[in-house]
Amino acid sequence: MDGTGPVGRADRHPGDTYEDILERDSRPVPDYLRQGRIPDVGVQPVLASRYTSKEFFELEARYVWSKVWQMACREEDIPNPGDYHIYEILAKSLIVTRTADGGIKAYYNTCLHRGRKLVTLNGCKSEFRCPYHGIAWNTDGTLKDNPIGWDFPQWDGQDMSLPEAKVDTWGGFVFINFDPNAKPLAHFIKPLADHFEKFDWQNRYRSMWIQKKVRCNWKALTEAFMESHHSITTHPQILPGLADANSQYDILNDWVSRQFSAGGVPSPFLGQIPEQEIVDYMTGMAGSRRGRPMAGGPERAILPEGETARRFVADMTRQGLTAETGVDHDDASDAELLDALLYNLFPHMSFWAGHASKLTYRWRPNGLDPNSGIMDIMMHAPIPKGAPRPPPAPVTELDFDEPLSSIEGQQGSGLAAVFDQDFSNLPHVQTGLLASGNGVVHFSKYTEMRIRHLHHMIDRLIAEGQAATTALPV
Ligand SMILES: [Fe+2]
Repeated sequence: MDGTGPVGRADRHPGDTYEDILERDSRPVPDYLRQGRIPDVGVQPVLASRYTSKEFFELEARYVWSKVWQMACREEDIPNPGDYHIYEILAKSLIVTRTADGGIKAYYNTCLHRGRKLVTLNGCKSEFRCPYHGIAWNTDGTLKDNPIGWDFPQWDGQDMSLPEAKVDTWGGFVFINFDPNAKPLAHFIKPLADHFEKFDWQNRYRSMWIQKKVRCNWKALTEAFMESHHSITTHPQILPGLADANSQYDILNDWVSRQFSAGGVPSPFLGQIPEQEIVDYMTGMAGSRRGRPMAGGPERAILPEGETARRFVADMTRQGLTAETGVDHDDASDAELLDALLYNLFPHMSFWAGHASKLTYRWRPNGLDPNSGIMDIMMHAPIPKGAPRPPPAPVTELDFDEPLSSIEGQQGSGLAAVFDQDFSNLPHVQTGLLASGNGVVHFSKYTEMRIRHLHHMIDRLIAEGQAATTALPV
């Protein structure tokens, strides 16, 4: 390609496309990185009340959150029988636990007697005994003990096991689904699972976990991480090393969408900048952005004559990663080493693809509040060859007004700065939506196609749920 992009296309940024950038890379480009399906999702405005109204929030609770697979924890959070991890969404609470046979179950975290939550902290137990009256369940969910069992004749001969949600796994993650008739997770996640197979997420560990409360609807929070062009104004410091407005977007199936932004290439908004400047940016920022030190150390890396910054930095990353993990990365493509390759699984998860340590996001409503949400920011790192699995990082919880830069060790980090910039917009998005004069939001046609699709899927599940509810019995 000549670097001028798709001649005559008025519906894309006029500069290089993501595929144009890949054509100049040092390794063959894996097919899965090519532009995928672009369904016509229209250009209709979307009602601002979808982010603010209690009624719409309740529709989502009833018809969306009750039907979808949701990431609950990592398998490494519950390695041994009796280990359990509490997953909460809306007002629901599940005990996700490892059973004696090595399986995983998710029990509703409610005593079947008077309704007290059985557990309120993660841990390991040989039984789930209610702290109120002492009725207990085995870790396989069956009723174990009732101190006044003689006074519950109505339980005689009944199955008083704890009710369960469905459980499935992918890539070392445990997922739950409240719908007893849900199809297996693989049905939904397939394109993502296929593309991630080479990155062996089963053998990664959680190296970082930050949980942040934000004063905005869960969708506004999610959508802040579903396009790259907000970098122009929200993250101007990253423009030397991120091709933002010419990112690639597609929707692989109804449940999986993705966006790719090239690294080691400047934003088209900067125009042409010296390649050495890009190298300086990438080597200065990369340690914090990717959660691991770059090869080359503190000394300035000088771009060899005739080489591009992207190829040069990719090679440094390739060598660094080989040394760090003990796994030869010589065949790794430049894109899989440098680029922001974000896959979303509807409705509330995003997984970054690539060989190095990679981010994972999860978004949820904050309890039953339409006007606030919770974002989990996790990093998952490859386990070095032959090394034991490190313990998963515990969560660091941040309240509404606590920035990532307040966390010990994150002061001055480029990663914390980027997230804090994102979170600085969002309370003003929510109050702006509440203040809207025309009551609608406009998404762009291509760049924000994934966000519009998120809304289409929510509408579809609400419509399907309402149709099922109102259907006459036959
Ligand atoms: Fe951002």
